[in-house]
Amino acid sequence: MIRNTASVKVKNEYEIGIGHDLLADCGRWAHACLSGKTTKIVLISNKKVFGLYGEKVKNRFEQKGFEVFVWLMRDGERFKNLRSLETALTFFSKMGLKRSDGVAALGGGVVGDLAGFAAAVYLRGIAYLQIPTTLLSMIDSSVGGKTAVNSDFGKNWIGAFHNPKGVLIDVETLKTLPKRELVAGFFEAIKHGAVSGRNLFQHTEQFLKTYSLNGFENRFSDEEFHRNLGKFIEKQVIFKTKIVVQDRYEDAERNDPKSRKILNFGHTVGHALEKVTNYDYFKHGEAVAYGMLAAAEIAKNIGICDKNELKSLNDVIGSVGDLPPASNIEINDIIEALEFDKKSTGESHQWVLLKKIGKPILIDSKQIPAKILQRSLKTVLENK
Ligand code: NAD
Ligand code: GLY
Repeated sequence: MIRNTASVKVKNEYEIGIGHDLLADCGRWAHACLSGKTTKIVLISNKKVFGLYGEKVKNRFEQKGFEVFVWLMRDGERFKNLRSLETALTFFSKMGLKRSDGVAALGGGVVGDLAGFAAAVYLRGIAYLQIPTTLLSMIDSSVGGKTAVNSDFGKNWIGAFHNPKGVLIDVETLKTLPKRELVAGFFEAIKHGAVSGRNLFQHTEQFLKTYSLNGFENRFSDEEFHRNLGKFIEKQVIFKTKIVVQDRYEDAERNDPKSRKILNFGHTVGHALEKVTNYDYFKHGEAVAYGMLAAAEIAKNIGICDKNELKSLNDVIGSVGDLPPASNIEINDIIEALEFDKKSTGESHQWVLLKKIGKPILIDSKQIPAKILQRSLKTVLENK
């Protein structure tokens, strides 16, 4: 049975369908999202996700008359790079993809970001669809049109804004998601809560209290859980959508609390941590969790955030799951990575800090004394 629990519109550009067993009808969905002239689709995934859901998606697309070519990228953040991009583009060209054809991303944020960027630059931009299969990609990366690859300069430094023609969130796919990935996704959900306001923060907190992440996959037979999980994802997606529609390109001049930049809460340190560990130690959400804790510690130390607010953020992050140890990472390496970003952009950094939960503030890095940065990083990385 197909249960479409929600549909969120991103202006008049595309829709995000959220529900259970939606893959069963993804051929009709793709047909509705793409132009009538699309004949070929390159389905991008990785071996693991394709093994779980790929044949189903491919068959449904084919039943609707599309010619489908599958390209599987290697699994992992470190393969979200220029080399994979080039291989994908070569594949598009060999399969004879035209401007009117499309790409579909089936997988987590790594697959989605790479597929989206390949679609953004191939023939100066062709259509693509997002079928996210991790919690993180459902609530965050598949929405808003940011696409990118990593490089020696840094994480997501080469990319483009390119909106998908549609996003299909089949929450049933979370059944097979490993717990560590689920935990990483919930860290991003906490990030949304922390910058959006008390409501979303408390809703996230409550969801986590109600449903322990142990044995998450066994809950899918429970109707109420289905409904609540769908609702949880919908609220997250609505928040992200609200921010991105009014600041689609993350306007560099904007510094207000509704700027898209607030979604980067936890990302300054998070990205540096991923970079200094060669993109293969942390899950993205885990690095962001450390980044949020560091940002909160800095906010406390420069006197803009009350320590009780810091505690509630710490508590909810702690309730999700363990973070990989980080005490052996050199603080100076992290600071160097932050400095590199600063020099390369020719700007000082803007940090997203919190005055309290739901009250983000953008602060110029010059306002954060080097000693406080160092001490805050040390406290957070050594205490987990
Ligand atoms: P990921 O794509 O690496 O997926 C995590 C792991 O789960 C992979 O091993 C994948 O094969 C596996 N997997 C995916 N779906 C599965 C399923 N249903 N069942 C079993 N296994 C499954 O990681 P992620 O956390 O989804 O995405 C992280 C990426 O997203 C980072 O590169 C980050 O920069 C990016 N991101 C982008 C945006 C954006 O706005 N574009 C926002 C946030 C994050
Ligand atoms: N994940 C941050 C953004 O989409 O802007």
